[in-house]
Amino acid sequence: MRHKKIKILAFETSCDDTAVAVVENGKKVLSEVRVSQAQHNAWGGVVPEIAARLHAEKWKGALEECLKKANLSMEEIDFLACTQGPGLQTSLLIGNTAASFLSLQHQKPLIPVHHIHGHICSVFLERVEEISFPALVLTVSGGHTQMHLFYSEVDGVMLGTTLDDAAGEAFDKVAKMLGLGYPGGPIVSEKAEKGDKKKYDFPKIYLEKDSLDFSFSGLKASVYRLIEQVESVDEIFITDVCASFEYTVGKIFLKKIERVLEKYPEIKSVFFVGGVSANQYLKSVIREFLQHYCKNFFTPQNINFSTDNAAMIGSAAYFLVQKNPQIAKVQFVEADSRLCFLGSTKKNKSDTN
Ligand code: KG4
Ligand code: ZN
Repeated sequence: MRHKKIKILAFETSCDDTAVAVVENGKKVLSEVRVSQAQHNAWGGVVPEIAARLHAEKWKGALEECLKKANLSMEEIDFLACTQGPGLQTSLLIGNTAASFLSLQHQKPLIPVHHIHGHICSVFLERVEEISFPALVLTVSGGHTQMHLFYSEVDGVMLGTTLDDAAGEAFDKVAKMLGLGYPGGPIVSEKAEKGDKKKYDFPKIYLEKDSLDFSFSGLKASVYRLIEQVESVDEIFITDVCASFEYTVGKIFLKKIERVLEKYPEIKSVFFVGGVSANQYLKSVIREFLQHYCKNFFTPQNINFSTDNAAMIGSAAYFLVQKNPQIAKVQFVEADSRLCFLGSTKKNKSDTN
């Protein structure tokens, strides 16, 4: 198996994108199709019933287009993969059923993948240079804000997680409060470019001295109170709020990264992944900060690999099957919206080496 080029056809339907990709040896993206669902924008957030119905309508067309773009037939695919969870149960159900159906029909082994593991492996996509471990991984999306310590592409422990809102969710809610639409992250970051990041001193919630967890609900509430107080929400106010909010999120990330690097000096690389890693400002402050620590910084090669995509699932599946060939079976995979993280135990505080 080592010298053969392994082609994995992967599905990602954990939220509102119907994504299918073919990935070779965990890194090379042979083709990628993503059908986005603009239908949710009018509701200011994802409506699960609408998402599931659209996944059911679109997956087959997306699959056919993906194979065509890669110039491959199902017979040339070595493995199938799908996001098993976490995510919206009804959305996951469609992708898992589609992948399972193909597994049984074509007798192809199917590899279930944890969504966060997919995000972590997004840094390997289209990357030529080697990545050295151990790595601190900061995963920031609409549903998660987590830090992991990874020893290889597949072995890791969770160091911290959000106690309330995820950072991406906070971006979305701030955008909603300012009447900017959904999804909020890209709009807030665009507005922030023109604003004064020091204008509003929002609370930087670092939690207890050694905590590696996150909390964003206080920051969100503080933005809400400010908006309530002002007489008019004009463009200057919006850009300043967005810039100050983004600056505060950046400060929180840097503090948490600093705590981890001081506790685990053996760390060689830092990954920043998940939808929020599409943010140019946050990427640049983290990159600059890490130069002082002489750590390698890795973030997905393009912003389409930051937000939900199927290629990252194909990448994670490849590394999983390399480590444990038994996980790939002709099977029906049950969607699991509340899937815990693989090896989710937090690293013991006294266990520093
Ligand atoms: O990983 P992802 O695509 O889906 C989940 O797994 O949740 O992340 C989506 C999140 C949304 O909250 C979205 O607002 C945020 O990523 N996001 C951004 C940017 N682009 C997407 N947040 C900040 N700046 C961006 N440029
Ligand atoms: Zn995601």
